[in-house]
Formats: sequence, C-alpha cells, structure tokens
Amino acid sequence: METLRLSTNESDLKLAGEIIRAGGLVAFPTETVYGLGANALDAEAVASVYKAKGRPSDNPMIVHIANATDLYALIDGGIKGLSDDASKLMISLWPGPLTLIFKKADIVPDVTTGGLDTVAIRMPSNPTARRLIKLTGRPIAAPSANLSGRPSPTTADDVLEDMDGRINAVIMGEQCDVGIESTVVDLTGDKPYILRPGAVTKEKLERILRRAVLYDNSLLEKPAAVADPEDGVADTGFKPKSPGMKYIHYSPKATVRLIEGDDNEFRSKVMRLGLEAREKGLKVALLDYDNDPGKAAHKLFAELRELDRQGYDLVLIRTLEEKGFGFSVMNRMLKSAGYDVVK
Ligand code: TXA
Ligand code: MG
Repeated sequence: METLRLSTNESDLKLAGEIIRAGGLVAFPTETVYGLGANALDAEAVASVYKAKGRPSDNPMIVHIANATDLYALIDGGIKGLSDDASKLMISLWPGPLTLIFKKADIVPDVTTGGLDTVAIRMPSNPTARRLIKLTGRPIAAPSANLSGRPSPTTADDVLEDMDGRINAVIMGEQCDVGIESTVVDLTGDKPYILRPGAVTKEKLERILRRAVLYDNSLLEKPAAVADPEDGVADTGFKPKSPGMKYIHYSPKATVRLIEGDDNEFRSKVMRLGLEAREKGLKVALLDYDNDPGKAAHKLFAELRELDRQGYDLVLIRTLEEKGFGFSVMNRMLKSAGYDVVK
C-alpha cells in the first residue's frame, strides 16, 4: 500500500477524514505523540490498526473526540454516566493530555476496547488533531503510531519509519509538544487510579479532585517479567489494570541503561561503562536532561530513534528525580531500559 503524505491544510484534513470514514488508517499529530487513527465505531477498521502495529489484540485503544459532549454517546448511561470526578477533570483539563476510563456504551465495538467493558476517552488539544476529528465526524480510535514495542513517534518522519507502506496516510504535522503519551486515569472504581502517568501529574489531579489519587501498583514495582508483543504472549503473571503496560515498550534497538547518582557518581559510572563498551567496539551515546522532565519528555523518544538510525549500540540515560512529571518520564525511561538502573 502506498502511504500518502498529507499536509495539515483543510483540504488534506478533509481527505484524511474521508479515508477514516471509509475504514482506512491515518496517522496524525497530537500534543503527546502521533496517533494511528481509525473510525472507533468500525470494528473492521480498528482490527486493521492492531494488524498494522503488530499489536496484541487484548491491548485496548484510546478513543479521541473533538467536543466533550461527544463523550455521552460512547459511555454507559450517557450524560448520567458522568461522575462528579469525571466532570471536574474534563472541565479543568480537557482538551489536553488526559485520558479517562468509563463504562462503555454498546455502540463501542469490543475490538476497540480489547474486550473490556470500559472505554478510554481523550480530547486532544492539538489543533490538527481536533480539526481532523471534527471533519471525520466520528470518534477516532488511535494508539501511538509506532510498531508495537518501539518508542512512540513524536515526528511525522518517525511515524513513516515504522508505518510507511502499512497505512493509508500520514499527516505531516509538527513535532509533538509533550513527547510522551497521555495520563490514563480510571474513574470506574471507588478511588481514582492512575494507570499510566503522563504530563497531567498525580499532584495536579489531586488538586482538582480535592482527594487522594492512587498509582496502579504496577507503576510502583519492577515487573518480574514483561511480555514481548511480538510473541503474543500476554500472560506473565504481571497484571497491571491497563493491559498495555504489561508489554515490552518504548524500546529501541540499542541497549538502554539508566545511570543515577550525584554529579561525581554519575560521571564515574559513565566513564567506567563508556570505556568498557568502547573496548568491545561498541558505539555509546549519553543522554542527560539536567533533571528537567519537560525537556526529557519532549526529546526522549525522538532521540532514541535517531540514535538507532545512527547505529549506536548502547545508550546511557541519566535518571530524573521521580516526582511530579519526573515520575512519568522515568516510567518511560525505565521501560526503555528494561528496568536496568546502574547502581
Ligand atoms: O497520548 C496518548 O494517549 C496517545 C495519543 C495518540 O493520543 N495514544 C496512546 O495510545 O498512547 P496507546 O494505544 O499507545 O496506549 C493506550 C493505553 C494502553 O496502555 C492501554 O492499555 C490503555 O491505554 N487503555 C486503553 N483502554 C483502556 C481501558 N478500557 N482500561 C484500561 N486501560 C486502557
Ligand atoms: Mg503506545
């Protein structure tokens, strides 16, 4: 299949909307990462997203909407299905990098939700994404537009690296602002749970809800084993509430190791590992984001992909302090490194 390169102008976005309505797949920019969009209400189209990504079919999609009111058709009970907590978060944080989990309405196909009776919904703030959803006139199911397991794409070229020839079109937009995926919050139980941390932090959610927000346990522990999406092996005994979190993720071809410690410790570890690797003839890169999570999030996935293209074998990344947004970015760094932190 030839993958069309589309611009962000109105006529191209209209064409993209037509492709999606006809059951096709179009990658598009959002403020977090590029998404791979299909009509969320078309089971066949959604099934082809799993295929294009090589994604295990028990890993549900996020459904993207353009107006908050588009939510009612997708959740159980319609407007009555909206809790106070959900309303507060939507009013304060939508559009933006926050995904909320609701009980699903019957019109949402099982394939979209990976067989769950809940649906993940997000209203992105990126103007191209919003215009595309409006012009499509359908809710758009969109996972990150990478091959399963690889770092999420934050530029159109990174999308093409994985998806050229596998999807109908890519909207060639700008580099994503945030750079890591949205915060996923489950509001279906007694207490609000963060299933995937992102730019909307626990502290921010707690300020808005005026109550405690918990991290799903899987975010606080190192998993005993992670499943490789290519094996299709889903059961490792590691059972995060968000099915996607149990798979190998964000992982470049190079080996990634995280380095912690104060300046001196950090430097001596980098020297030691760098020299060891050079002796073996390996090409080594170092990423240090000065403990700035915003900068790290914005660049991390793009840099991992670029280092792969340049043939690096080993990437050393300096850890961030695990608080606020730093916790979220460290979640991605730990996963890219397979939890290998050099002590
Ligand atoms: O920022 C983002 O959220 C990007 C952009 C494109 O919007 N999308 C994205 O989608 O990251 P994806 O498919 O790569 O990740 C979706 C995550 C997965 O971890 C999945 O398991 C979880 O959301 N998820 C989706 N529906 C769920 C549900 N009903 N219950 C629990 N987790 C769910
Ligand atoms: Mg993803």
